[in-house]
Amino acid sequence: MKSKILIITAAVLLLVSCGTQKSGSTAATTAPVTETAKVVVLTPELEEGKNLYENSCARCHKLYDAKKFTQEEWKPILTRMQKKAKLDDTQMASISNYIISQL
Ligand code: HEC
Repeated sequence: MKSKILIITAAVLLLVSCGTQKSGSTAATTAPVTETAKVVVLTPELEEGKNLYENSCARCHKLYDAKKFTQEEWKPILTRMQKKAKLDDTQMASISNYIISQL
């Protein structure tokens, strides 16, 4: 009778220890992921450029991510696109400043 109780106790202990081990490993995989949110505050001038960019440059194609090109690469593209979008120099300068601010 005594040995039966011992066996049952041992079995229960084994189950409990297995259980805690399992939950321990799942806790390790759900470690908190720290997200680094980048907040870019735009001046009113840059905000204006952003609006122009979004309204004038997505008519023929999707908006390109500013980071897709370097500042040197953007220059000839913007000259080419100014003609296509029929924008004046002031509007274009505003768009360029916005794009450069996003690089
Ligand atoms: C009238 C239509 C039109 C408008 C408006 C326009 N684009 Fe384009 N864009 C095109 C076409 C067509 C191409 C592909 C041919 C080329 O690269 O010239 C292109 C290509 C591009 C590319 C890719 C260039 C490369 O080398 O891969 C970028 C970036 C771009 N446009 C940016 C702009 C920006 C910024 C504006 C706003 C100032 C703008 N586009 C407005 C028609 C347009």
